[in-house]
Amino acid sequence: MTEDDILSTLKEDMKRAYAPYSKFHVSSVIISKSGKSYRGCNVENAAYPLGTCAEAGAIASMVQGGDQEIDEIYVMGSGDALVTPCGGCRQKIREFSTQKTRIHVCGPEGIRKSYSMDDLLPDSFGPHNLTHD
Ligand code: THU
Repeated sequence: MTEDDILSTLKEDMKRAYAPYSKFHVSSVIISKSGKSYRGCNVENAAYPLGTCAEAGAIASMVQGGDQEIDEIYVMGSGDALVTPCGGCRQKIREFSTQKTRIHVCGPEGIRKSYSMDDLLPDSFGPHNLTHD
């Protein structure tokens, strides 16, 4: 997938988001270490806290598809502000990230800013905390 393909996919998937309550449509694409791509969008719920973020959808799809390492994750939302992953999503991305992982925050016109996992979640708690001898 070229970057143009990824941006077109993100734009299409923003339209598919189910966000009748916030009306804030978000999409996400993951490129895994194996080179496969996985897609997600936010899915809200009348019981508000049960809604899921676009990144969570893309991560679930990645794991189901047999991948567990994120090379790149793109997030697209509208408006002037940067649609950076929420706190919970930062931790979810962290689970499958490496030093190489890049998080690209996009608007409909393209990438606005790119981050490493350490930029978004420094000194993070992760799988290494739970490894035992
Ligand atoms: N949202 C995401 O999908 N990803 C984020 O990282 C930020 C927020 C969604 C959740 C909710 O459906 C809507 O945006 C408004 O918060």
